[in-house]
Amino acid sequence: MSVEIKTAKGRRVWDSRGRPTIETEIELVSGAVGRAIAPAGASTGSGEAVDKRDGGDTFGGFDVKAGVAAVNGEIANCLRGLDASDQEQVDAALIELDGTANKSRLGGNALIATSMAVAHGAAAEAELPLWQYLGKGRDDFFLPLPEIQIFGGGAHAGRRVDVQDFMVIATGAKTYEQALEWTAEVYRCAGRIMTEAGLNQGVADEGGYWPAFVSNEQALDYLVRAIEGAGFIPGEDVAISLDIAATDFGKAGRYQLSADKREVDSDGLSEMLLRWIERYPIVAIEDPLGEDDPEAMAAFTAAAGDKVEVIADDFICTSASRIEEAHRGGACNTALIKPNQVGTLTETKAALDRSRQLGWESIVSARSGETEDTTIVHLAVGWGVKQLKVGSFSRSERMAKWNEGLRVAETLGQQGGRLAPRKSFPWG
Ligand code: PGA
Ligand code: ZN
Repeated sequence: MSVEIKTAKGRRVWDSRGRPTIETEIELVSGAVGRAIAPAGASTGSGEAVDKRDGGDTFGGFDVKAGVAAVNGEIANCLRGLDASDQEQVDAALIELDGTANKSRLGGNALIATSMAVAHGAAAEAELPLWQYLGKGRDDFFLPLPEIQIFGGGAHAGRRVDVQDFMVIATGAKTYEQALEWTAEVYRCAGRIMTEAGLNQGVADEGGYWPAFVSNEQALDYLVRAIEGAGFIPGEDVAISLDIAATDFGKAGRYQLSADKREVDSDGLSEMLLRWIERYPIVAIEDPLGEDDPEAMAAFTAAAGDKVEVIADDFICTSASRIEEAHRGGACNTALIKPNQVGTLTETKAALDRSRQLGWESIVSARSGETEDTTIVHLAVGWGVKQLKVGSFSRSERMAKWNEGLRVAETLGQQGGRLAPRKSFPWG
């Protein structure tokens, strides 16, 4: 069995916030090597696999020495001799070794770095790019349509505005390359008009401009102006997508809008968002309400679900069972898929498969703390996911992903990278 795992090596590397994170390197008996790095969120859902840190004073408590030691010790011992091409068996062994429901013993960060590294190792052995290895048997590959942040807010920008991500989707773009080109123009224009208005204060955690806006609506107005200023028709060529990340500013149906200096209840927040959908060219809204507010989420989906993608992030935490529960309650119609929320590739795929069986759309997503690792691009292409969310159009941990998509398109021999047909999207 040439895909036999020889060993796993853990390494402490650094993420885009300058925090320690875990890289796992898998070596096969054949000599093939696979490597992957765990990302980290800032606005996390409570149902996520535990991002295990050492605590204490070093690096603000964010060190990962214990996780690195686990990879070099018991994880390496557990994987030695297993077949890297049998991802399900590898992940089952990791889950059993950890032995907890939320991966708190070894850490979801150690496990996802390892799980992804095994996939990279198996792909290297097969002498295929990971996307092609994951999509074996298919010949209908396409590139995911990018969802790209222009302004950052919420937990990623000192809560200057409440909404976490003000994003655009180039809904009219013909190819992946064109979607990036159009977004680059919108991003540039947004920076220019903010500078002219004296509002530019650098960039937030995911590379979007750090807003000095006085309200969420002002950010939306500027976003529309940036789309128009770059020469595009809002809602036709380029549309708006928001991640409200409401779990971050809400509890038990009460939401603190710090930009507006007022508190609203679930109905108040929903009504505000429904007004925005009427007034602005919005095609997608993520986590419109808190993770502990399922009934309001269902009511919002009933009111807006035929107009926009209602995306669940904190609400489902890339868990097949949570997706099922959310679907049963009528909440959301689109799953955000983040591998580190659940801790292994097999469970990530299970969440994706479940969301598809239930008729939901899906989006593969990065975290706010990222690195040069581009695994998620390969997952999106290999698994045929139509959309990809990576943060903004600056900072190399973001650009590494967008650029990897360009390389995939080139390998596919597709001019600019074919997207899923426009009519297959809710706005098509
Ligand atoms: P996070 O933010 O990575 O900080 O959780 C991303 C998101 O909420 O989608
Ligand atoms: Zn989110």
